[in-house]
Amino acid sequence: MRTFILLLSFFSVTATAGESTIFLKDRPGKNQVIVKCAMCHSLDYITMHAMILDRAGWVKTVGKMINVMGAPIDNADKEIIIDYLAKNYGR
Ligand code: HEC
Repeated sequence: MRTFILLLSFFSVTATAGESTIFLKDRPGKNQVIVKCAMCHSLDYITMHAMILDRAGWVKTVGKMINVMGAPIDNADKEIIIDYLAKNYGR
C-alpha cells in the first residue's frame, strides 16, 4: 500500500511538471504549433478552445491569427497546423 501511494504521488508530480513545459499532444504538426502559435500568447489559448472549435472553427481562428494578428505563417505550415488542431483539439 505504501509503495502504491508513493508511486501515485510520483506520477502526479511528473504530470504537473510536464504540463508547464510542453503539454500539447505529441502528434505530427505539434512542432509547427509550438513554434508558430506560442510567439504571441500561451498555448493555453489552444487547449482552452479545444472541444469548442470544429475544423471550420480552427480554419477561421488560424486565418484570423494570420490576417488580423499578423502571425507569420506560410500556407504549408497553415495546413499542417489546422490539421493538427482539428484532429487533436477539434470538437
Ligand atoms: C502575431 C501574434 C499571434 C500569433 C502568432 C498567434 N496568435 Fe492567437 N491570438 C493573438 C491575439 C492578440 C489574440 C487575442 C485576440 C482577442 O482577444 O480577440 C489571440 C487569440 C487566440 C485565440 C482565442 C480565440 C480568438 O479567436 O481570439 C486562439 C484560439 C488562438 N489565438 C490560437 C492561435 C493559434 C492556433 C495560433 C497559431 C496558428 C496563434 N493563435 C498564433 C495573437 C497571435
